Amino acid sequence: MSTITLKVNGATHTVDVEPLTPLLYVLRNDLGLQGPRFGCGLGQCGACTVIINGVATRSCITPTSAVKDEITTLEGIAKDGKLHPLQQAWIDEQVPQCGFCQNGQIMTAKALLDRNPHPTDAQIRQGMAGTLCRCMTYYRIQAAIKRAAQVVA
Ligand code: FES
Ligand code: FES
Repeated sequence: MSTITLKVNGATHTVDVEPLTPLLYVLRNDLGLQGPRFGCGLGQCGACTVIINGVATRSCITPTSAVKDEITTLEGIAKDGKLHPLQQAWIDEQVPQCGFCQNGQIMTAKALLDRNPHPTDAQIRQGMAGTLCRCMTYYRIQAAIKRAAQVVA
């Protein structure tokens, strides 16, 4: 076991874990952050996505000891009791069906808008590619990202 310090959503946490423990397990099991989901566990679906140093990162295949920069999870994107524009757009567009993939969709979309506040439809499709939704909510996801982009911009 190793003592590892993580900065998550503006707070500092110290955990005792095996260094190769996937970050997803630590976030969910040790820190109680249930936003990131366990989907495939293989880096293939995106349900576990968090943002590290501005990059959408699949926490299920990220060793906890490898994380040096601040982690942002779904729980950390609302500010001062106000939903992030993406969260509000997700509600306005009624995006989710079962909801299982939606953490990954929103966090991937946030990383996309943070680096490109005015994405074209093609850039949205490219930026969201590989974040899978078994319920096929892709058209509503795209609409929500476009709605949120108007607010973010
Ligand atoms: S659970 Fe991490 S990519 Fe699927
Ligand atoms: S809403 Fe069900 S998997 Fe995406």
